[in-house]
Amino acid sequence: MEPIKIALAKGRLADLSLEIFEQIGITFSSYYEKSRKLTFLSDDGQYELILVKAMDVGTYVENGAADMGVAGKDTLLEAGADVFELVDLGFGRCEFAVAGKPGTDLSDYQPLTIGTKYPKITNDYFQSQGRQVETIKLNGSVELAPLVGLSDVIVDIVETGNTLKENNLDVLETMLSISARLVVNKASFKTKGTSIRPVIDQVKAIIDNKG
Ligand code: PRP
Ligand code: MG
Repeated sequence: MEPIKIALAKGRLADLSLEIFEQIGITFSSYYEKSRKLTFLSDDGQYELILVKAMDVGTYVENGAADMGVAGKDTLLEAGADVFELVDLGFGRCEFAVAGKPGTDLSDYQPLTIGTKYPKITNDYFQSQGRQVETIKLNGSVELAPLVGLSDVIVDIVETGNTLKENNLDVLETMLSISARLVVNKASFKTKGTSIRPVIDQVKAIIDNKG
């Protein structure tokens, strides 16, 4: 049988996800050999790990190029991924927030300009409140934008708050909490259910035990 494909984003999310998979007996020894490879077969040959960019996990899973994956809720929302979101893995926790120079009053700006890697989440959030904003799409280091006058404020994820602090910015408004999610392709969930369901159940059991 073809291996079940699992999409992970390189970095901390992949490392923490692999720790969980390891606990349920799914191991990828070849992943730990230094290489530029992007696909890794599990030691039992039943699963294939594919390494994608964080923002693309939802796209690979939605299209069935991967049967399942782990992605931050932030990237799933931004990509508008149409997938089954089955387990909140509890790690990768952070907050979406509006941030800017200390004392910034959002209502002083009409429209408020917002630098962000997440224009969809930002627009959805402000639109749902009937507040008019203009987003400026950035690809990183967004904290710079209000410092150099590119935007009035930013919308970004805040984990420890260190990046804001070190750039003399404050949280002006908290928006929503996010964390890593186990997602599954809708068709795979039906056609490959006998292989996928036990994985989901075992992952759930581990997360619940950590509770
Ligand atoms: C992320 C995020 C914030 C920071 C939050 O940036 O965009 O800038 O981490 O973490 P903290 O609250 O613990 O400081 P990342 O390091 O991913 O870089 P990028 O925004 O340039 O992609
Ligand atoms: Mg950043």
